[in-house]
Amino acid sequence: MTLAILTCSEYFVDFALNEIRRYHPTVQYIEPLADKHHLIEYTTTFKKLTSPWRNKLAIYLHHLYPLQHQIYIAHDLAQFSQQVRQTLPRFDRADVRMVSTHTHSAHSIRQALCPHPNHRQRNPNILSMVVVDNIAYVGVSPASQNMSPHPFGKKHFRELVPNRAGLKLMEALDSFSIYLRDNAHALDLGAAPGAWTTVLRKRGLRVTAIAPDDMYPTLKTDPCVQHFHMTAEDYLTRCHDRFDLIVNDMKMDAQDSARLMVRYAPYLRNNGIVIMTLKLRMRRTARVLDHSYRLLRKQYKIMQIRQLVSNKKEITLFLRKK
Ligand SMILES: C[S@@+](CC[C@H](N)C(=O)[O-])C[C@H]1O[C@@H](n2cnc3c(N)ncnc32)[C@H](O)[C@@H]1O
Repeated sequence: MTLAILTCSEYFVDFALNEIRRYHPTVQYIEPLADKHHLIEYTTTFKKLTSPWRNKLAIYLHHLYPLQHQIYIAHDLAQFSQQVRQTLPRFDRADVRMVSTHTHSAHSIRQALCPHPNHRQRNPNILSMVVVDNIAYVGVSPASQNMSPHPFGKKHFRELVPNRAGLKLMEALDSFSIYLRDNAHALDLGAAPGAWTTVLRKRGLRVTAIAPDDMYPTLKTDPCVQHFHMTAEDYLTRCHDRFDLIVNDMKMDAQDSARLMVRYAPYLRNNGIVIMTLKLRMRRTARVLDHSYRLLRKQYKIMQIRQLVSNKKEITLFLRKK
């Protein structure tokens, strides 16, 4: 029996399992370890298990690692570290995630296991560990076989953002490998309070921000931000510009948001791109998503879909105008 730990959003567990089973129909769900971490059983090698996503972004899977040992964490971290080293293959980096409170922090366990991570190794062996109560679920896998180069699929950004929404845009730009052109013109739908506009401004874009609510004071005085105090539906009747990029993080039913994006397509330059979140009520989710994609395909090519680590009950799309 070969076990692995799957990490995904607590709202999209079935979707993540379906995503694996599309390529590996015999994968069995064993049990949840905690909200975002699940034990699965597979019959192939770990390399083959993750191979479908070697050159392609997974939608719902955030991380997968082989479960090789379950080790009790005692108070003595030096002893624990020795036990890990004796039972597991050599590793160059340790990614530790605590899902319950423990006397030791993730940082102190990481330090004990791997005080000097080797960042020079071309294909390092990564130790992944989820700690639930006093049990560490541990496995080592080569970075080349992992789903993401980041710990549990979560990239740490040094850039500060004014709110959590800002992380979604940074993660989307990074995941979809989108490089924004300086001085390009962006339309930000549902822009308030303004983290996405701030992220775009830091990359040198001019932003037209549409939001019925107030924006951050720093944006109000920025000459490269034009704020229209209205809904996206109302702005459609007075929009005359053509944009290089439209972003949409509106708190709006997914299908309504998709319909609105179709109406905005004439205001996007040829080959222009869209980054949008589809907010979900988590009822009939598969049908809502399918319908939203069908609507969007009238005007856009869906380039990538990702349930980002920083998304909650939502997914993020990268579209290009047809
Ligand atoms: C999640 S917040 C957006 C956060 C924003 N992206 C940021 O970075 O700060 C959702 C926003 O959608 C706005 N919204 C909801 N319906 C809208 C509509 N019809 N037109 C424009 N904005 C709308 C809300 O007022 C709210 O500011």
